[in-house]
Amino acid sequence: MAEIRKVGVVGLGAMGAGIAQLCVEAGVETVGREVTLELGARAQGRIAHFLTRKVEKGTLTQAEREAAVARLVITADPSDLADCDLVIEAIVEELEPKRALFAELERLCRPDAVLATNTSALSVSAIAAAISSPERVVGMHFFNPAPLMPLVEIVRAEKSSDEAVETGFAFGLRLGKTPIRCHDTPGFVVNRVLIPLLNDCIRVLDEANVTPADLDTAMRGGAGWPMGPCELVDLVGIDVHVRATEALHSQLHEPRLAPPERLVAMRDAGLLGRKSGRGFFTYDK
Ligand code: 3HC
Repeated sequence: MAEIRKVGVVGLGAMGAGIAQLCVEAGVETVGREVTLELGARAQGRIAHFLTRKVEKGTLTQAEREAAVARLVITADPSDLADCDLVIEAIVEELEPKRALFAELERLCRPDAVLATNTSALSVSAIAAAISSPERVVGMHFFNPAPLMPLVEIVRAEKSSDEAVETGFAFGLRLGKTPIRCHDTPGFVVNRVLIPLLNDCIRVLDEANVTPADLDTAMRGGAGWPMGPCELVDLVGIDVHVRATEALHSQLHEPRLAPPERLVAMRDAGLLGRKSGRGFFTYDK
């Protein structure tokens, strides 16, 4: 198993920033790469905010917070990832940009570095096929919000080596997560079940003529969900959910996986959920 001293996180949106936060809190030197330094600084600000909240709530000391913040280096230059032992990709959920990034990582990183993708619904094997050493590619699929959700799925692609899989698993444990091992099937474990279920919930809004608030109350109070489905899709991002269900639909062809029209219309109108300030509900940005 590879020893992980330094980690790179590529893409510092909601998922990438959450993963970078976990890494620095676990004491790991972390390079966070964004397209621009401005976007990187924004993610750094969000991470610093959540760590400050932990100090205010007494779950982190001020000194621990300072040390964690100091472990994060923000860059826009991919060559700063060259000496990382593990790079976790969390960029846009589209195959071609991910494949291009992995090809670049193969050129830049040491041959023994493990390359992980946080893809939620694309094939890890298809991403790995972009490079000549696919054995070092593995899926590390975190859940939103990454700092709070315990699970990480460690996905074995067609050519993943045991070493890459076990390195991902051990690193998940080091981040304080509960990792599970699974194969590279569409949606892996959780999204294979959760995405069609969320689509059903959205369709029920119109079928049962129920408001989003009442649907959420129903699923919290009648099914024990910690968060209602509309609140959850707002958290994940309407655009992210539509893209994930499209990816699953194109692989599995189940009618339930076709994106609900209501979500497509919301996405097209720019109602993306929490990140845009409005989805099913409204939020302070
Ligand atoms: N990053 C870091 N810290 C965060 C955070 C984030 N994004 N969001 C909240 N926090 C911190 C905050 O400091 C917050 O405290 P504060 O509001 O006082 O500042 C603290 O965490 C605790 O937050 P809450 O009090 O809101 O915590 P709850 O006890 O209410 O639990 C929850 C929140 C864990 C999110 C719970 O509501 C839950 O389990 N919801 C379901 C989430 C879920 O199902 N996620 C999976 C989505 S599917 C997915 O991700 C797959 C992907 O492929 C699309």
